[in-house]
Parts: sequence; C-alpha cells; structure tokens
Amino acid sequence: MSEAPLSGKLALVTGASRGIGRAVADTLYAAGAHVVRLARSLKDGSAERRTDLRCDVTDPAAVDRAVARVLGELGVADIVVNNAGTFFIKRIEETSLEDFTRTLAVNLTGPFLVARAFVPHLVKRGAGHLVTIGSVSDHVAYSGSIAYAASKYGLRGMHEVLRQDLSRTGVRTTLVSPGPVDTPIWDPVDPDSKPGFTKRSAMLQAEDVARAVLYAVTQAPRVDVTEIRLMPTVYTARG
Ligand SMILES: NC(=O)c1ccc[n+]([C@@H]2O[C@H](COP(=O)([O-])OP(=O)(O)OC[C@H]3O[C@@H](n4cnc5c(N)ncnc54)[C@H](OP(=O)(O)O)[C@@H]3O)[C@@H](O)[C@H]2O)c1
Repeated sequence: MSEAPLSGKLALVTGASRGIGRAVADTLYAAGAHVVRLARSLKDGSAERRTDLRCDVTDPAAVDRAVARVLGELGVADIVVNNAGTFFIKRIEETSLEDFTRTLAVNLTGPFLVARAFVPHLVKRGAGHLVTIGSVSDHVAYSGSIAYAASKYGLRGMHEVLRQDLSRTGVRTTLVSPGPVDTPIWDPVDPDSKPGFTKRSAMLQAEDVARAVLYAVTQAPRVDVTEIRLMPTVYTARG
C-alpha cells in the first residue's frame, strides 16, 4: 500500500469546529497530516496527530499566541487553510456598522493575521501552502451580500497579491471558491423556506470542498493550483 500522501506534514485549519473547516481537517488528517484545528468553540487539547486550539481569528493577540504555540510545539505548518468565516443576508440599509465590520474582521482580517504570522516562516523554509476558502461571492454579486461580498472580494484580492509576492519563494497559494454548501452557516437563512434559493439537498457538501483542498495540496511541488471554483450542478441564480 502507498504511504498516506500527507504523512509527516503539519496542517492548520481555521474555523474547524464545524462545516467546511471540520471536513477539511478530517480529510487532511485521513491523508496522514498532523492537523491543528482553530475555532472559538474548541477546547485546547491534543491527541495523536491532532491538536485543537481555542482561538478567535479576529483577535490579533489570540492569533499570535496560537501561532507561537504551533511553531514552538509542532514547527512550521506545511499547509495553512484560512477557512473561518461568517455570513448573513441583508440589504445595505439593514446592515449595521457592527454587522459590516464584524464580517470584515472574521472573513478578511482573520485570514490576514493568520497568513501574516506564517508567511515569513514559509518563505524562509522555501516551501508551504496557503489555502484560502473564498466563495462564489468573491467573484459574483448577489443581492443582500453587501458585507459578505466586500469581505470575499477583498479576500480574493489578498490571495492574488500573495500569489504574486510568493511566486518565487516556493510557497504555493490556492483560492477555493465554492457556491452554496450545506453547512450550519445557512441555518439562520433557512434557504429551503425561501423561493429563489438553492435547496439544501442540492447544495455542495462540505466534503466536496475538502476534496478540492486535498487535490490542491497533494500535487507535485512544481504545480501551484491557483484557484478552484466549485458550484452545485443544479442551482438557482440566487445562491
Ligand atoms: N456554506 C457555504 O455555502 C459556503 C459557500 C462558500 C464559501 N463558504 C465559506 O466557507 C467557510 C466556512 O463556512 P461554513 O459554511 O463551514 O460555516 P460554518 O458551518 O458556520 O462554520 C464556520 C466556522 O468558522 C468558525 N469561526 C467563525 N468565527 C470565527 C472566529 N472569529 N474565530 C475563529 N473561528 C471562527 C466557526 O467556529 P466557532 O464558532 O467555534 O468559532 C466554525 O468552525 C467560510 O469562510 C465561508 O464564507 C461557505
């Protein structure tokens, strides 16, 4: 039997307590990696090839603490997946400043803080992989997605600049942009009760996104999978 493709690799996934992040963490673990999961609702703990750290990615001190712990106890991560995110649907006149800044803090500042903490170490080593979970909303405008689109279009911008800046360093960058995925993020929206929304049964599954991440991070070092876009085969224009 061939060796697990990520055997000996260290991966870190933000927002890994549920949904896509948890599926990505489980998939990378199954592929042989030691997986560090970050989220606010996780308790600090460890088991074989598993480390959980409670961390709010919007809190710079918490991110620095978590990253310092990973570097000190486990070493430089080979794969960093910026996944933690938040979502709601409101038109601009209903969107409070708090709604807007909170969305940018989780979806954009969080990935910035995590990437900033790791990039110098990855560049120094001349290898590593930054994976960003974007969204179809990083390149398509949906009504009511004012804050979310601002954060995800911004995230795509950050990915593009990082890709440019890291292009001669050996560090790879991948933006994975899924359409609707059936996770708890949709619970407050309840798309099944609303006309025009993709029904949950037709959405992508978190494991579909996890497989896309696995594909990107298991290519030969010479291959940089810059972007992956996934959509449900049958979906409505609203998302
Ligand atoms: N589901 C979709 O339709 C869809 C489509 C395209 C893109 N995406 C993107 O995929 C990513 C994951 O979404 P999901 O659907 O899996 O959502 P989810 O089920 O709501 O999970 C979100 C995850 O992010 C974590 N999180 C939220 N705020 C955080 C914070 N401040 N610090 C640390 N962790 C935080 C949550 O953990 P805690 O609450 O424990 O902190 C949870 O683990 C997001 O970036 C989302 O924008 C989702």
